[in-house]
Amino acid sequence: MTVHERGQWSSKIGFIFAAAGSAIGLGNIWRFPYVTGQNGGAAFVFVYLLCVLVIGLPYLYAELALGRAMQKNPAGAISAIKPGSPWICIGGLGIVTGLFILSYYAVIAGWTFGYIFKMVVPNQMEFDEFVSQPILVVGLFAIFIFITVIVVYGGVQGGIERWAKILMPVLFVLLLVLIIYANFLSGSSKGLAFYLKPDFSKITGKVVLAALGQAFFSLSLGMGLMVTYGSYISKEDNLITSGFYVAMADTAIAIMAGLIIFPALFAMGQDPAAGPGLVFQVLPAIFRNMPGGILVGVIFFILLSIAALTSTISLLEVPTAYLVDEKRIVRKVAVWVVGGLTFLLGLPSALSQGAVAWLSKPIAGNMEFLSLMDFLWGNISLALGAFLLSIFVGWIWGAKYAAKELARGNPGFAKWARLWGFLIRFVVPIFIFIILLNLFKVF
Ligand code: TRP
Repeated sequence: MTVHERGQWSSKIGFIFAAAGSAIGLGNIWRFPYVTGQNGGAAFVFVYLLCVLVIGLPYLYAELALGRAMQKNPAGAISAIKPGSPWICIGGLGIVTGLFILSYYAVIAGWTFGYIFKMVVPNQMEFDEFVSQPILVVGLFAIFIFITVIVVYGGVQGGIERWAKILMPVLFVLLLVLIIYANFLSGSSKGLAFYLKPDFSKITGKVVLAALGQAFFSLSLGMGLMVTYGSYISKEDNLITSGFYVAMADTAIAIMAGLIIFPALFAMGQDPAAGPGLVFQVLPAIFRNMPGGILVGVIFFILLSIAALTSTISLLEVPTAYLVDEKRIVRKVAVWVVGGLTFLLGLPSALSQGAVAWLSKPIAGNMEFLSLMDFLWGNISLALGAFLLSIFVGWIWGAKYAAKELARGNPGFAKWARLWGFLIRFVVPIFIFIILLNLFKVF
């Protein structure tokens, strides 16, 4: 199966694996622990889970319903409903957001790839030294984009899906083993408390903004990706249960990553607020002390690289599909254009972790270039996109039509349609709007 023609997923499971492959990635294992650490731990986790359930999941259904009903990419679906209206800008915003997220995401994915080999090198550089080597980081970044382009270019997504079916369960088991190991380290219980015992007084506007952004980022929402993936789902399939499985799998993997990182981090006396380098500092230290740790580490970073690859594929897909559908550019050319553009856009991020001094200094609100990109595109822009699209689906297209689409393949949904309509018309956009106002406090 390929999703490049307007085909359909081979089966319900095909969609679940492709969507879960997009959702599960560095967002769960790299971003979730570092953002949790920076935002005070358990109270953030609590708000995050609330955001997934009350905002993320209902909004995921809106994207899936729009895509399947219109059988089109986001821009196409919007103009099918409201031809020539400014709402089409949501599609444009999604494309730009996808490009920028991919630009720094592939930098982190490059580090992950590099760590596969770094694990077996006996005389190990520390993380800070590793990421400040310009040729090394740019090289790894380029390799990762290259691999993504080759995979999308060759259209071997069917193969990737088959792999994902085997490798995701292996990742799951490996995470379980690491959870057990990390929680036996002495001093680890303090980490577990930091992660799971909420101090609700720590919930501020900034914390809620971070949690909301993390929910969208991790579920691959807010830029129309799930509209595109939804358009390949067959009319008989049950969007409600499929979406639910994807959201649960994604959330479970993120929570598991935290159950490894925080106990280990406190056991080793490291700083939970260390930022984007957090997991790259903590995990190799665990592997170094663990019996058979080098092998475990190699397998772990291979799996994480593949999880990142199934996400970069989905990020590359949205701008590529736009060039193919709307600009009539041949797919094979479009893939290279998007890949090349991503490389240029990502260079400053790649060099912002010590390689180039002025990029590595805090630029705005204590964030260096890469963190700033992650905040602007991976948080604010996704929230803004979701705000606009929830209004579009709830009010312009109409929650009634969307609910009808959701009830196909799930007749029981009729009971919930009013609640869902209320969430998508009022709760989701109003909540996002209020939370976005905290933007002004960050800078
Ligand atoms: N969700 C992915 C992760 O957690 C990242 C990602 C892939 C993404 N595609 C996306 C984020 C689309 C937002 C939108 O790693």
